[in-house]
Amino acid sequence: MNFKPVQILSIGKAVPKTVITNDDLTKILDTSDEWISTRTGIKQRHIASGDENSTMLGVEASFDALKKANMEGIDTDAIIVASSNPYNIYPSTACAIQAQIGAKNAICFDITVACTGMIYALEIARSFISTGKYKNVLLVATDTNSKFLDWTDRASCVLFGDGAGSMILTESKDGVDDIIALNINADGNVGRFITMNLVGENCPLVEPNKEGIRKITMNGKEVYKFVVQTMPESIMKCLHDANLEPKDIDYLVPHQANLRIIEGLQSRLEFTNEQVVVNIDKYGNTSAASVPIALSEALEEGKIKTPSKAILCAFGAGMAWGTAIVRLREGLK
Ligand SMILES: CC(C)(COP(=O)(O)OP(=O)(O)OC[C@H]1O[C@@H](n2cnc3c(N)ncnc32)[C@H](O)[C@@H]1OP(=O)(O)O)[C@@H](O)C(=O)NCCC(=O)NCCS
Repeated sequence: MNFKPVQILSIGKAVPKTVITNDDLTKILDTSDEWISTRTGIKQRHIASGDENSTMLGVEASFDALKKANMEGIDTDAIIVASSNPYNIYPSTACAIQAQIGAKNAICFDITVACTGMIYALEIARSFISTGKYKNVLLVATDTNSKFLDWTDRASCVLFGDGAGSMILTESKDGVDDIIALNINADGNVGRFITMNLVGENCPLVEPNKEGIRKITMNGKEVYKFVVQTMPESIMKCLHDANLEPKDIDYLVPHQANLRIIEGLQSRLEFTNEQVVVNIDKYGNTSAASVPIALSEALEEGKIKTPSKAILCAFGAGMAWGTAIVRLREGLK
């Protein structure tokens, strides 16, 4: 079988308009801008307000990527949505997006891999395209963490923001593969480090279940220790698999969870500040959307020049983590 190579056609994003600063949070929490920004790098985050939800953000991000790729919804034949707090469990967010962007030819499904969702989605899309069965695949990562945070837990709620990112992949016409290397990983044995339960109520004819909470819990210290070990290993493995060294790569677009984690990766790769995309100060941790939002914004602002090669990496609940080394073609938007 001849495997088809993949081309990255476009990257999109969308965030809610409402901005909540660290100072705003001091109205509801015993915290300070100084604590949050020195420990995490976060200065503000965009938060869904009123009826805004992750489907709406996903639709907006989809239209952004479609426009940049000069495509219509009807041109896509698969939509994969990575979301850990979808507006509906069913219909899937992918189906809801399909209806709103007019993608009636697309198959649609969601995946739940928390912050690593976009890297997993890339692996799935690559497999789909490589068989020749699917040509144009729309990937969307969308999360409204703010609706599931415990707003009394200052150790977790200050870290997250809401947003959506998107990517369109297609079968490469020139035989060049834009996904140079990719690895995804998981370790459910440490799943307790970050949790969000989806608890329903038992049938009234049986013993009631204990009340469940549908809130994000996190052991920040354990997450930190786990990530500083596993993320560099994943990046180095990806480089090794591609027979590349850090000096062969132009940019690092990391998951925006903590500035100190990003700086650790930067020093491991011996990258300059200009090579590392950081926007955690503006958006906080937007889960699966974080990498595509960072990539999209850096391309729009000219902070990433094309053609170039970039390392995309993410980690989060599961625990799950992964790295992709991608080619960013000339003129990619
Ligand atoms: C969350 C994180 C910033 C906390 O930093 P830390 O140095 O580990 O801080 P600690 O949890 O030890 O807390 C230190 C103190 O600050 C306090 N604190 C926690 N959150 C605070 C806040 N928002 N404002 C002020 N004080 C806070 C704690 O209560 C604690 O006080 P104490 O020593 O009196 O008990 C850090 O652990 C982290 O970023 N971990 C990774 C998280 C991550 O990446 N998650 C996303 C994965 S996708």
